[in-house]
Amino acid sequence: MENNGHVKVNPMPRIGEKAPDFETITTTGKLKFSEFNKGSWVVFFSHPADFTPVCTTELSAFANEKDFFASRNTKLIGLSIDSIHSHLAWVNNVRDNTGVYMDFPIIADLDMSVGQLYGMIHPNEATTAAVRAVFFIDPKGIIRMIQYYPLNVGRNMEEIKRSLIALQTADEKKVALPVNWKQGDKAIVPPPKTLEEMDERIAGVYDEKVDFYLVKTTV
Ligand code: BEZ
Repeated sequence: MENNGHVKVNPMPRIGEKAPDFETITTTGKLKFSEFNKGSWVVFFSHPADFTPVCTTELSAFANEKDFFASRNTKLIGLSIDSIHSHLAWVNNVRDNTGVYMDFPIIADLDMSVGQLYGMIHPNEATTAAVRAVFFIDPKGIIRMIQYYPLNVGRNMEEIKRSLIALQTADEKKVALPVNWKQGDKAIVPPPKTLEEMDERIAGVYDEKVDFYLVKTTV
């Protein structure tokens, strides 16, 4: 552990690493992360605090997209440094006020152990609240993408959905995705790694070819 002068911080997990396992208490009961993750994608996100305006818009947006995530074999799980009682009261309050039911598990990480494990506590931003992190974890438990936002800027649900679709498309079609790619756009054939593959790209007919290293195909 490093010590930046205020609080101890763990090294942050990185893309390509196994998602750290943990057992915890959530709004849907006790949960072991590796079991929750088994066979599904997981979008694991932290928010700074219950009963705050930006967080309310964000978690409501996740709840509104529950059918989208389910259709992509993806489970949602949230986290903040709040008690289970606070989470329950907030979920109920949002349901009463707006009709939106945030019924995915939300971790009550009062001792910050899970937040520390996932590098969600950025002490120069806040020492007692998680930043707005989003971890995309595949069904094998590998972290595939990480997004971090500060306390005062809400995340973009369209970008979260686009990121998930892009990761799943890249895996399924063995392609890479160019700048601003969205579902329906052409994808990039991975660049050649050998002279033979280079000659294949040069000779091949593709939907779009700028040069042998930038070839696009319909997916
Ligand atoms: C919010 O969600 O509105 C918020 C939470 C913590 C700090 C600032 C804003």
